[in-house]
Amino acid sequence: MRSGQTEGGRELLRGTKGGAGVRGRASNGSIVLVPVPMGLWGLLAVAWLVALHPPFLARGAVYFREQFLDGGGGGAGKWQARWVPSHHRSDYGTFRLATGKLYSDRDLDKGLQTSEDLKFYAISSRFKPFSNEGRPLVIQYTVKHKQRIDCGGGYVKIFPSSLDQKNMSGESPYYVMFGPDICSSDTKKVHAILNYKNKFHPIKKPIRCIVDGFTHLYTLVLNPDHTYKVKIDNRVVASGFLEEDWDLLPPRTIDDPAVEKPEDWEEEEEVDDPEDQKPEDWDIPEFLVDTSAEKPKGWEEAKEGDWQPPLLPNPLYRGEWRPRKIPNPKYKGAWPHPQIANPEYEPDVNLSVYRDIGVLGLDLWQVRSGTIFDNFLITDDEDYAEDFGEETWRETQEAEQKMNQQQIEEEKRRKQRMAKKKERPQKKKLLGSAVQKEEL
Ligand SMILES: *[C@@H]1O[C@H](CO)[C@@H](O)[C@H](O)[C@H]1NC(C)=O
Ligand SMILES: *[C@@H]1O[C@H](CO)[C@@H](O)[C@H](O)[C@H]1NC(C)=O
Repeated sequence: MRSGQTEGGRELLRGTKGGAGVRGRASNGSIVLVPVPMGLWGLLAVAWLVALHPPFLARGAVYFREQFLDGGGGGAGKWQARWVPSHHRSDYGTFRLATGKLYSDRDLDKGLQTSEDLKFYAISSRFKPFSNEGRPLVIQYTVKHKQRIDCGGGYVKIFPSSLDQKNMSGESPYYVMFGPDICSSDTKKVHAILNYKNKFHPIKKPIRCIVDGFTHLYTLVLNPDHTYKVKIDNRVVASGFLEEDWDLLPPRTIDDPAVEKPEDWEEEEEVDDPEDQKPEDWDIPEFLVDTSAEKPKGWEEAKEGDWQPPLLPNPLYRGEWRPRKIPNPKYKGAWPHPQIANPEYEPDVNLSVYRDIGVLGLDLWQVRSGTIFDNFLITDDEDYAEDFGEETWRETQEAEQKMNQQQIEEEKRRKQRMAKKKERPQKKKLLGSAVQKEEL
């Protein structure tokens, strides 16, 4: 149970943490795996859990789960057998297993890390293909950037099983692309791009991602009723209807082309005040002749023409006069164009049905490397994903925050020690001269 993989793709969830082999935490703070309860006491315990947490018992499927729990200990781990690097380009950056500077557990928190700056990255992992028809599709993982990341992708792509993993690239068609993307100050967003009839549709709602050095949990839920949720750290940051927040289908209604806005419909909120008059002294020249200028000596009229004194900007010039604005007394607001049903609209019950989901891949460009991907989960059970997120991301992040605080304080102490060392010789000297004075 220790390895985080699902064997054979589809795995039924049994109860909560223990059954799924999710790591728990002992009271002394170390991480343990909660064993599946056995025997009568075990059954009683399960019954008690059922009573307390009915949602955890939703029978769902885990299609893919990857926590890199077998890659510890330095050497080549088994994870390399499950992840296939692409050779589409010859200069892809290398992924390695690492925890980064901040972590909760040196082995459990290892994830897939990009290790070289200014590189493209492409790697993917395969699982038993499935269709999400009639079920929710939950895509979740954690991502941790370097504290001062300036540019780097942090998103995942879900591919059909037909993907040639060794030739995966930015051109490989995917079903869903989801996750954070950071580049300079203007791109700090969460992508959610859906493939619909081989066209790629980005979400229209802007979603900001989190930029700091801690582990964050990203979750996308696509439901068969065509609702969706985007969650960061198990908090909903966007939700609604696929049809409204992506341009997958033509709009349901359009402006009635047979009706035009009445001519007397006033849409301007403000108009010029007819009472306002231009002051008589408003119009003055914009430039004045510089009367202090003198014709340079040796000015040759024959060659250079008549001498003109230079012009200076008039400090009293107020620009063009415009009447004051007042609220439009006839203002009626925006004209509501009457709507009619769009003849081109046709609902599609299979709006987000992907029939052959089989590969999860990272296809990235990173200016600043060091991003760590971990705790990948593809399931149809949102409650389970939430629970799994709490046990992996929350515990990790809390420990990272603590470690960060410790590192900041250590750094402060180190600086203080350095400063003291510098002061010491001076003190000695002062002390020495004081002693000398006394001796005198
Ligand atoms: C790799 O993929 C590209 C398109 O992304 C395609 O043109 C090329 O033929 C593929 N190469 C192989 C060896 O399949
Ligand atoms: C939706 O998919 C089902 C097959 O799973 C198919 O029978 C049906 O025709 C599809 N509907 C549309 C509108 O494409």
